[in-house]
Amino acid sequence: MRELLQLFPELHTWIQTFDLEQTRKLRQSFERIPFQEWRALKVLSQTAFKKQSLSIKRWTPPACFMLRDRQTQSTLWQQAESRGVQHLRQGKVAALTVAGGSGTRLGFPGPKGLVPITPLKRKTLFQVFAEKLRAIERLHGVRMHWFIMTSADTHEATYEAFQTNHWYDAKYVHLFRQGVLPAFTMEGICLLTNEPSVNYCPDGHGGVFKALASTGCLNKMLAYGIETLSYFQVDNPLVCIGDCNFLGLHLNRMSDFSTKVVAKTNADEKVGVFVDKGDALQLMEYSEIPEHLSVKKTEDGQLYFKLGNTAMHLIQRSFLEAMAKEKLPIHITHKSMQYWHPLLQSHCTASCQKLEYFIFDALPFAKNPLLFEIDRKEEFSPVKNAQGQDSLDTCMRDQISRWHRWFVNCGLNVDLGDKEINSTYRLEISPLFADDYISFKKMWHALVIKPSCFESLYLE
Ligand code: UD1
Repeated sequence: MRELLQLFPELHTWIQTFDLEQTRKLRQSFERIPFQEWRALKVLSQTAFKKQSLSIKRWTPPACFMLRDRQTQSTLWQQAESRGVQHLRQGKVAALTVAGGSGTRLGFPGPKGLVPITPLKRKTLFQVFAEKLRAIERLHGVRMHWFIMTSADTHEATYEAFQTNHWYDAKYVHLFRQGVLPAFTMEGICLLTNEPSVNYCPDGHGGVFKALASTGCLNKMLAYGIETLSYFQVDNPLVCIGDCNFLGLHLNRMSDFSTKVVAKTNADEKVGVFVDKGDALQLMEYSEIPEHLSVKKTEDGQLYFKLGNTAMHLIQRSFLEAMAKEKLPIHITHKSMQYWHPLLQSHCTASCQKLEYFIFDALPFAKNPLLFEIDRKEEFSPVKNAQGQDSLDTCMRDQISRWHRWFVNCGLNVDLGDKEINSTYRLEISPLFADDYISFKKMWHALVIKPSCFESLYLE
């Protein structure tokens, strides 16, 4: 305790308001983190305001397997696909979802995975993902294990929803909890709860490496023969979990960590961008990249750093294991947070410092990282905000547009009334019917009795 008091002198006055039991509880809560780490975290929270100078002179746009390469390198593309199919059919691929975020921007009272996301059936994100996995199981005749990272904020509600919904008929679900980090006031004072205890927060999606190791999930993966993880965030219902082309290219390149990217629509779009730092590939988060770099253009008017992070990755299990032993940098974000003020004996809300690990900081450790451009319209429409860009509204519209396009590409005249597609159209295709255009085309042509009316059409 003496060392703690030296590090956090404010504890002296606080403890005077606590009885012995409360002091014991508080001390115990500090012990969740080794003392040396407390020292480093305290320094970090006090120096975060100093602007770091980035040596950006040698930064260039990185190499990427672009959409146009699919035509020009069609043999490579096809070979990759068969390798990916083989890997998947051998049961070497599992899904990994990070679902520990609190989703405050969306304003949904619960884990984001429980947001009703589909336009007609109002299926939740978790149900959509479960159907995608069942579709892969059916197509390839394999078991699809699904590892889902939760946090103290989301675990109970997620577990309960899965139980109530019979695990969405997904058979091999493994929920595991991420770790924690403390939060600080802007002055570097550690936040408390009224228990009293340290006010711990989820440690960011970069906590996935340590959490997979400490909860025994890495051992499970090894026992099940899983070699590659298809990683995605909980917010994107268009994710293609079993993309065999991507998988094959990732394996052919012997990559540890590959990423699907989209061309940024404009300089302000809230996606991280990839940069080649000369000695390593790195992701610059949208909140951290210097402005002059995010707006920088090429001579033909394109964004210079335009490869946006979709947070859909393929990661080798062996790399997850290696990273569980590494130390990632900590990022500080400023968020309005509620905490207990022991002297005022009440809760306060203020802008505070939240500490997080980011998964993409593992990139510089990765062998042969691959970037792979995808068609945004087909695979990327995350739900982040209550309104505007990346909202429920835009996500539903994008789902409907995608299905509508599939019909049109099959030569069908799908009359949806109005010219412009919006989220009120009543059309839905379950991943169990088809989850990409090629399988849709096959399934549609195989339908003996085809529906003639598209209003309120649901295909499963
Ligand atoms: C994220 C990426 C950004 C990318 C964009 C694509 C970060 C820091 N940035 O931005 O580069 O372009 O997605 O949509 O991730 N999560 C946890 N535990 C935590 C915190 C978050 O599991 O402690 C999960 C969330 O549940 C979510 C995901 O991580 O699934 C992303 O978190 P979010 O805060 O939504 O990231 P963005 O800022 O949208």
